[in-house]
Amino acid sequence: MITELKYSKTNTYLIQGERGSLMFDTGWAGTFPMLCKALGEKGIRLGDIDYLLISHYHPDHMGIAQEIADAGVKILAAEQQRDHLHDADGVFEKEKNRDFIPIRDSEVEFTDPSRSRGVLRKLGIDGEIVHTPGHTEDSISLWLESERALFVGDLNPLYELEMHRGTAIAQSWGRLLRLSPRVVYYGHARTAVLDGRDVKALQESNDSDTYALVKRIVKLIDKGCYAEEIQQKTGADPVFIGDVTRMYLTHPNVSVQGILDRIEIKGR
Ligand SMILES: [Fe+2]
Repeated sequence: MITELKYSKTNTYLIQGERGSLMFDTGWAGTFPMLCKALGEKGIRLGDIDYLLISHYHPDHMGIAQEIADAGVKILAAEQQRDHLHDADGVFEKEKNRDFIPIRDSEVEFTDPSRSRGVLRKLGIDGEIVHTPGHTEDSISLWLESERALFVGDLNPLYELEMHRGTAIAQSWGRLLRLSPRVVYYGHARTAVLDGRDVKALQESNDSDTYALVKRIVKLIDKGCYAEEIQQKTGADPVFIGDVTRMYLTHPNVSVQGILDRIEIKGR
């Protein structure tokens, strides 16, 4: 069961499984009483929630994480988030926010996304955590299999996907669209309900945009263009250009699809 918790400017959710529950994202420091009120209105006790999972460690998503942890909820973080738990501490320090409590790393449970199915299964939740860099390096999404629902935090919305071809954002969406989602819950944008054809069309255009882009980059490499020139000509992300160049030069006779497959494997 998915419940939207409205108490701050960030969309946050409570996901209740058969054997436990998980909160996805929180609000800015100072919103803790509002969260308790929102839960109280629904007859839910904070201490009964098992885990808090945070899409990425920006201040509007993690501001009350430690207060929630102090109430007995375990912070669950992906391995890719290990070095980012304190990314927002400086923001609260600067605004002299007295409500903010930094996260105590020793109390955090880390999981590799590839093993997250097992962690969620303990709660009776069928799903997984997917590393989806793009908005930030530490961004993750949550996939719920039975609802075919995605929680993506601040990953740039699908309607602007075209603007991000050749970037980590497009690669992350490529990974997520393959799951055939039916609903996408965003950190700030409105919830998107997708039909199967929309998803297939988006996936195909994303894949073919990326394919065409790799083909162009390879042609430019053959012509002897440097990375900066390729970036100017294609507008693609420098990291993506770097990945394509490396794969192309280190795998003789590799096809465009072969390059894409290898980049996909690397991104996992
Ligand atoms: Fe953010």
